[in-house]
Amino acid sequence: MTIIVALMVGLLITACTVQSNKHPESSNVSRVHHSKPKKTLLIYYSLTKNTARLANTIGKQPGIESVEIKTKKSYPTTDNDQVNKLVKEKQNKHQFDQLKRVPKNLNQYQKIIIGFPIWSNDMAYPMQSFLAQNKETLSHKVIVPFTTSSMAEASAIRNTEATIRRLVPGVNLQKGLNLASSDLDSKRITSWINQTVLKTPSKKTAITIRTGSEVFKGYLNNSAAAKDFAKHLPQKLNVKNFATGYPEKYAKLPFKLRLNDTKGDDPGKGDLDYNSKNQSLFFYHGRVGKFQELHRIGHINDSKYINFVSSHQEPFEAQIELSN
Ligand SMILES: Cc1cc2nc3c(=O)[nH]c(=O)nc-3n(C[C@H](O)[C@H](O)[C@H](O)COP(=O)(O)O)c2cc1C
Repeated sequence: MTIIVALMVGLLITACTVQSNKHPESSNVSRVHHSKPKKTLLIYYSLTKNTARLANTIGKQPGIESVEIKTKKSYPTTDNDQVNKLVKEKQNKHQFDQLKRVPKNLNQYQKIIIGFPIWSNDMAYPMQSFLAQNKETLSHKVIVPFTTSSMAEASAIRNTEATIRRLVPGVNLQKGLNLASSDLDSKRITSWINQTVLKTPSKKTAITIRTGSEVFKGYLNNSAAAKDFAKHLPQKLNVKNFATGYPEKYAKLPFKLRLNDTKGDDPGKGDLDYNSKNQSLFFYHGRVGKFQELHRIGHINDSKYINFVSSHQEPFEAQIELSN
């Protein structure tokens, strides 16, 4: 009897061992699946604490972790001219600020809110340094910017958006908030938080355009036409000038796209539009006006790409593919 029980226990142990060794990686697979980044990080830089005040209000939302980054060498707090001079010197030497307190694993966050003051009508240099030093990781993230400045000028937020796109090509950039330092209790904060910070970002599909040795990153939006287009990738296209003098190039598509949820567009720099009239994909490097037959399907946020498309006069071959 004892022998039979011992044998059964032995068999059971062996069976369990075999079972757990069958797919040694299976527990990891499900862990990786569940640990898809969902969290939001608020990372901010503040020299005289105005941005810090706004960051504290935003950071009170549930699910947001806040971090204040600092420069290893502090900037003077009372002499803007001296700060501007120090920044200019660094820019001339192609140097960025050395930072401390930057979180190590930015990968675990899906959305990153960045807060910074406006310096010389653009993003404060320490935050530019953070973006430049983490551009690989950040290019796959949703970035939501907010700023404080003495005067809330629309040009400042436009400049900072351009700076973000230049430093982190391909980033999914959301609508920013710029408040004057005298207006930090503004009602606009709550509506901006609801519309941007707490909203789940619309799903975008990362794409790569390759032309010869050039590689440009962008995305397809969530429209039916864009989803159809994604199904045909990778796709080699022959891109040509459309009409002389217009900031657009086009390529005929060997398939039609569904137009269920898009209608008419006024495309701008970097936009990719499907033209339903002549079944083509259009690449814009400037504005042409609003047309009913245009349907926005994506965007390429890369200043190198804009230069390339605008300056390339001969037809060229472009391969569009889904990014990894
Ligand atoms: C070097 C420097 C340049 C600045 N340039 C501008 C500017 O171009 N436009 C503006 O409205 N405010 C400007 N400001 C003011 C700050 O943007 C503003 O005081 C901001 O709220 C400071 O945020 P902080 O307290 O988080 O550092 C500048 C401040 C500094 C230090």
